Amino acid sequence: MSLELITGTFVHLPVCLAHAGSAIDGPRGWSELWGAWEWDPFVVLALLATAWIYARGSRRLRAEVSRGRGLRGWEIACFWTGWLTLVIALVSPLHPWGQVLFSAHMTQHELLMVAAAPLLVLGRPVVAMLFALPRGDARELSRLARGPRIRAIWSAATNPLVAWAVHALALWFWHVPPLFQATLRSEPLHHLQHVSFFGSALLFWWALIHGRAGIRGFGVAILYVFTTMLHTGLLGALLTFAGTLIYPAYQQTAPDWSLTPLEDQQLGGVIMWVPAGLVYVCAALALLAGWLRHADRQAALRWPARLARTVPMLLILLTVGCSRPEVAGAIQLTRGGPEAGRQAIARAGCGSCHTIPGIAGARAIVGPPLTGIANRNYIAGVLPNEPEAMIRWLLDPGSHSPKTVMPDTGLSEQEARDIAAYLYTLREN
Ligand code: HEC
Repeated sequence: MSLELITGTFVHLPVCLAHAGSAIDGPRGWSELWGAWEWDPFVVLALLATAWIYARGSRRLRAEVSRGRGLRGWEIACFWTGWLTLVIALVSPLHPWGQVLFSAHMTQHELLMVAAAPLLVLGRPVVAMLFALPRGDARELSRLARGPRIRAIWSAATNPLVAWAVHALALWFWHVPPLFQATLRSEPLHHLQHVSFFGSALLFWWALIHGRAGIRGFGVAILYVFTTMLHTGLLGALLTFAGTLIYPAYQQTAPDWSLTPLEDQQLGGVIMWVPAGLVYVCAALALLAGWLRHADRQAALRWPARLARTVPMLLILLTVGCSRPEVAGAIQLTRGGPEAGRQAIARAGCGSCHTIPGIAGARAIVGPPLTGIANRNYIAGVLPNEPEAMIRWLLDPGSHSPKTVMPDTGLSEQEARDIAAYLYTLREN
């Protein structure tokens, strides 16, 4: 290869990147737009599989648990709205439109990140998936998923700070002009961009809604949403107020839609800034409302229960012991620590199926509420409610009640003891 050719390539590469518009094909007017559906087999199959799994799981849940339990109507509605949003973002003509109009592309990305992702997460897809699988497979899967290595990875990924940073990185990284424009010419890169936007958004909303951000405290969660609103808003504002074209790839195609390229860029910036910002504001308000409600409930708790939350085991035994000696005895027999148990419950995600007092975010109704479990005579209707039986149930629900829909928890013996100790602090007066 001659030197001239090599230097020529280097000189031309940036020029090519800057003028990539001509190489991109997409609809050139409204009449072409409506027919431009995007039937990418991979995307369509993934969407159909997700829908099938969720439909099957939520139906089986309804059929198998007693009336009034399972997934709530609004959770199911959230999932399907999120799923439809995904279809609009990935299959409808919005996708090809984004090839030729920056503002359409921004709309697509916002639909993925601030509409589809939180809605799907609210629909409890993992619970539905567990119930969609044959029972043995579901057990095997939850056993695998709770292995120490996967648990460590998962808890690192859903650590609020990590999820926050991963989402922010993905967002800023792909908006670097050469990278953003490269996705317009390469489908694999484009898929990678969408996967990282959507995947990191799922992680972000997961950590916020079901994860430890909620458990660590509402204050952290609000900060987490607020700072995300700030930095995504900043990116939107930069695009809105830039006097020059940041993504010249759209230079030739924007005028087909009666917009100058600069207007197109400004519109894209505003879409990222305002409607997406509103979603974050709503999330922050919802968290604030949750915080106030939580504070109210906390204040309404009677003092023995309040102490049981905050002081170590000895004090719990003392206070509980005064009011109900047999419960104090039960806690003692578990040889576990209630406070450690409370943390183990938060870590193990029991709240994705149960309503459990004292555990932030544990309001699901898939399994029976564990409110007042200490007063129950039987565990799941099959085992006498005694400490050792409770521990055995927690370690291996399937072997005691083969038909139970509670999956294996993958707890260690000590965790099960601690959890049992915590559960025996849950009395109904
Ligand atoms: C995927 C959903 C799911 C998860 C996750 C889950 N459970 Fe359950 N759990 C259930 C269901 C459903 C039942 C009812 C079982 C039955 O009746 O067969 C149940 C029953 C129970 C019971 C007996 C309740 C009663 O009223 O008799 C206890 C105690 C319990 N679960 C504790 C836990 C703990 C602790 C965790 C976390 C380590 C957990 N569960 C995780 C679904 C779940």
